[in-house]
Amino acid sequence: MKSKSYRLDRFISKYSAFSLSDTRLLIAQKRIFLDGQAADSIQQKVTEFTHVVLDKVCLQDNNPVYIMLNKPPGVVSATKDRKHTTVLDLIEHPQKNELHIVGRLDFNTTGLLLLSNDGAWSRKVSLPETKLAKVYEVTLSKPLSDKYISVFNEGIYFDYEGIRTQPAKLDILSEYTARLTLVEGKYHQVKRMFGFFQNEVLALHRVSVGLISLGGLEVGESRPLTDSELGFELD
Ligand code: URA
Repeated sequence: MKSKSYRLDRFISKYSAFSLSDTRLLIAQKRIFLDGQAADSIQQKVTEFTHVVLDKVCLQDNNPVYIMLNKPPGVVSATKDRKHTTVLDLIEHPQKNELHIVGRLDFNTTGLLLLSNDGAWSRKVSLPETKLAKVYEVTLSKPLSDKYISVFNEGIYFDYEGIRTQPAKLDILSEYTARLTLVEGKYHQVKRMFGFFQNEVLALHRVSVGLISLGGLEVGESRPLTDSELGFELD
């Protein structure tokens, strides 16, 4: 999940025969183009997805990729696995080998899984500070009660990490089913939260992350995110 970003003069000195101090002159002579526009400052930021042309030669041309998958059960959230089908095995995309997973789901958890090659975006989606809502549908082995709502809202202390979970919203849908909204993604978080009540999670399905929701995407299918799905401002 690396995301490289350079100041323009550093990028030029790293990826061409010109030096850091040559860059000012190259800019003045309008020999550098960033995303089709003549560069105007050595301070300009070059990310891994900035299209860079110097003297009509392309120095960098990477496309960011953002994909959603409706993950089936029995598939590993990993890019490689010796024994099991991985989520990457289900994706057809020319840049699929560049992708990383943005917020893993357990082996038998189903639903919305995001993949990208844009580390900066993935970090923003995953950071608890971003407070992006992750919505899960949960089926439990024992009946639910209103007590869960207040306990989840107050947060549960996780011994292992030594943290209290962020306030989470629980909507009880029936005796054994609920919708849980989290703004973070600790390891096995949903199962551990219901584990506080010794209530085993029998089925877990992620419906949405922020404004991105599965909609009618079939199980096992994937598609690129649309501009409007990417449009929500994370900065
Ligand atoms: N919480 C879990 O316990 N498992 C998941 O797969 C996702 C969230």
